[in-house]
Amino acid sequence: MNAFASRLSRVQPSAIKTLNELAREMRARGESPVDLSIGEPDFDTPDNVKQAAIDAIRRGETKYTEIHGSAELRDAIRAKFRRDHGIDYTREEITVAGGAKLIMFNAMMATLDPGDEVVIPAPYWTTYPDVVRIAEGVPVFVPCPQEHGFKLRADELDAAITPRTKWLLLNSPSNPTGSTYSRDDLTALGEVLLAREGVRVLSDDIYEHLVYDGCAFATMAQAVPALADRTLTLNGVSKGYAMTGWRLGYAGAAADLIDAMGNVQQQSSTHASSITQAAALAALTGPQEILEERRVLFQARRDLMVSALNAIEGISCFRPDGSFFAYPSCAGLMGRRSANGRSIESDQDFAAHVLETEGVAVVPGTAFGLSPHFRVSFAVSTELLEEGCARIARACAALG
Ligand SMILES: Cc1ncc(COP(=O)(O)O)c(C=O)c1O
Repeated sequence: MNAFASRLSRVQPSAIKTLNELAREMRARGESPVDLSIGEPDFDTPDNVKQAAIDAIRRGETKYTEIHGSAELRDAIRAKFRRDHGIDYTREEITVAGGAKLIMFNAMMATLDPGDEVVIPAPYWTTYPDVVRIAEGVPVFVPCPQEHGFKLRADELDAAITPRTKWLLLNSPSNPTGSTYSRDDLTALGEVLLAREGVRVLSDDIYEHLVYDGCAFATMAQAVPALADRTLTLNGVSKGYAMTGWRLGYAGAAADLIDAMGNVQQQSSTHASSITQAAALAALTGPQEILEERRVLFQARRDLMVSALNAIEGISCFRPDGSFFAYPSCAGLMGRRSANGRSIESDQDFAAHVLETEGVAVVPGTAFGLSPHFRVSFAVSTELLEEGCARIARACAALG
């Protein structure tokens, strides 16, 4: 007897989770691995946000709220979209859920029928194809190599769309590459979508606040207003405000889509925690200086990491314009042998070699759909970053 639903057989085990577990086991053995696989800021949630949650508990804001979040929070989100991107949403066009991931899940469950296609530029955040598969859709991957800055081009998007295409999932700045679509890039993609009826676009803006070198953040509904009624503008407080554990994401979209997503949410989590909603309200309406302070720190770490990795023979690291990830190529190391005679034939072999010989956790590019690469996070202290890069250099030098 097969005890579990067949839809689960289509979901990949998370390579990142496996790596985290390996690193934890090493720590338990008394070793000190450097974990560059992590996907959350190493900073703390701002104090005003924590205080707002404590105040909400004391005021008794501990009961059910509206499915899509309190009116006050949704109005703060509307103000944020208007202020930062010039997009006007009504209250009925806003949803809030326990994480941006859950919003994506609600959107796919609400819109995909079995066999419907979703265009996903590769490399991609590992969650995208799995959520599409759970919703019984079919991910259609478009490889976007380093030579193209890891970005999807208009002609490639056009070629990937079929009569079954329901969505394009776009993430900028990107996890795992850090590449960032300019307003012009988005306009070119948006024009393709405008010509193809019935295709929606999910604009995953979760790393919005982490853009470097004066690069201006842009989002699809702002770049191509004519596409706004087919765009789900997805964001959240996890990355910008260092609130990953609080679980809160939000989005703007046409009211009928928001309504359909609400039907999914109503029968699952109901709504995001009332305490977290109060915290998110403080994050979005309180002082914003911390975003710039942290952005500057992340940029310095990115510079350190990119130059340290590019100094290693066999590695070529594209300079990310955003997020806290880089996605170096390890193509130059393929076929080399480690001291124990094992040949490095894939990015998985490379990640295993770096972990086993030097105790550094990086995520093999196989997990993100473009090889041979590996993802490194610079959401760690400068000291750990220096130590991690020095260890990767030693691991590479040890390859014959
Ligand atoms: C591209 C991308 N989108 C969304 C999320 C999820 O954010 P949340 O914590 O709000 O679910 C992540 C988290 O890793 C991410 O990398």
